[in-house]
Amino acid sequence: MRDLPEDLHERLRRWGQLHLLHGWERLSGVERAGLIRQLTELPWEELVSLATRTSTSKKAWDYETLEPPPVSPAATTAEERTVGQATLAQGRVALLVVAGGQGTRLGRDEPKGLFPIGPLSGASLFQIHAEKVLALSRRYQRPLLWLIMTSPATDAATRAFFEQHGYFGLKQDQIRFFQQATVPVLCAQSHRLLLESPGRLLLSPNGHGGTLTALAEHGLLDELESQGIDHIFYFQVDNPLVRIGDAGFLGRHVLHQADVSSKVVWKHHPQEKVGVFAVQQGRCILVEYSDLPLEVAQQQTSTGRLRFAAGNPAIHIFRRDFLQRLITHGQLPYHLAHKVAPYYDPILNQQVVPASPNALKFERFIFDALPHARRWLLVETPREEEFAPLKNAEGPDSPTTVRQAILALHRRWVESCGVQVEGNPAVEISPLLAMDAEELAQRLPSGYRLSGPLYLRPPLSGIRLR
Ligand code: UD1
Repeated sequence: MRDLPEDLHERLRRWGQLHLLHGWERLSGVERAGLIRQLTELPWEELVSLATRTSTSKKAWDYETLEPPPVSPAATTAEERTVGQATLAQGRVALLVVAGGQGTRLGRDEPKGLFPIGPLSGASLFQIHAEKVLALSRRYQRPLLWLIMTSPATDAATRAFFEQHGYFGLKQDQIRFFQQATVPVLCAQSHRLLLESPGRLLLSPNGHGGTLTALAEHGLLDELESQGIDHIFYFQVDNPLVRIGDAGFLGRHVLHQADVSSKVVWKHHPQEKVGVFAVQQGRCILVEYSDLPLEVAQQQTSTGRLRFAAGNPAIHIFRRDFLQRLITHGQLPYHLAHKVAPYYDPILNQQVVPASPNALKFERFIFDALPHARRWLLVETPREEEFAPLKNAEGPDSPTTVRQAILALHRRWVESCGVQVEGNPAVEISPLLAMDAEELAQRLPSGYRLSGPLYLRPPLSGIRLR
């Protein structure tokens, strides 16, 4: 075959992937060179072992041996808050958001971070997070470093969005966009590699566990070390309530000398789509919701609570040296997901849009780092204060429920400040004005009255709506 290295042909034959060469003659020289490059770079050994795994994606834990984990209470002490504040003020913390997922459940063809979630402001998820980073940077009088993990699917649009919005007032050099890697997608039945289009393999982001290698490969762990940054505050792009850089949580993490600390929300009901923390032989583990059998999810304790109740809102603090240690010891494992993936069929020479799951995708999960932690900590957080994820277009975890959660929280802040509220107006608060009820109380003049829907942001007059 023209232009095809003999050894590559032999490898494709050996691994049962000769279908990729169908239509080879139809490809342009550039397409051929592209496919040869992709195939040459493939981690064949790893792929072969992945392809020979079963297509059942559930990880089977021995549930009899798992124990509910100790969870420390949400209320923090003055000492914890002081230590956390000092750690932030000394610039020893970087913030990291994972925003590489394709957000397919939301049914939009753009990065999830662009979604206009602010109930009155229409602010995007990225704007809300960016304003928190800016507010924290002002509070601690230093530009906190913000790491934004994208994937090939979200990178260009994310960068363009930040540029278009003037980085939301942040200094451009306090932000680091970095891309996670991708993995080929396999046909679930035949374990053959799928193509996206003629001459191009179908690739998918390698999961948020890809954060670790991506940080290392982009030189960011070294950069953090050289800047004296010891801790990484990790959160997901889909949760606008996350209390980024929460000083009390950080202080408890530092005082406990934990390798990793994670927040916990109590599960609402057995089928809620959150992973659950548990303890296995003294180590903290996370059982992903898709792995947890329903009968185990429904198990109750003698007091009538769910046995596995400690839900994962995906808010963690990692020690940088813990992540560095992990990377030198190898990779996090892959999980298999059975998903619908449109592809190009080289034999039929046409695009195929399957109606049911046809493909195996491989993802690493960041929480597989937890069992490696020698010291770890779980800290409760009230869900209504910190967890309202945007996952679906409708129903639970949808724009409607997330906006309701934001309005309810901000309404409680306003009421706790003793503001006179006339009627039942909606109120949304920009993080630039206040990031919690205490800060709002300091910012609002006494006798402040509120009537009509209002988006409160500095200068305080706010933006009156309608
Ligand atoms: C995730 C957690 C679950 C947790 C829940 C809380 C996993 C596997 N499970 O579930 O334990 O209780 O959130 O909301 O994550 N992402 C990337 N790159 C990828 C894949 C995902 O950056 O390759 C990012 C997404 O942009 C998103 C986050 O990771 O910010 C979570 O991904 P998502 O698919 O929404 O996870 P869930 O299944 O909802």
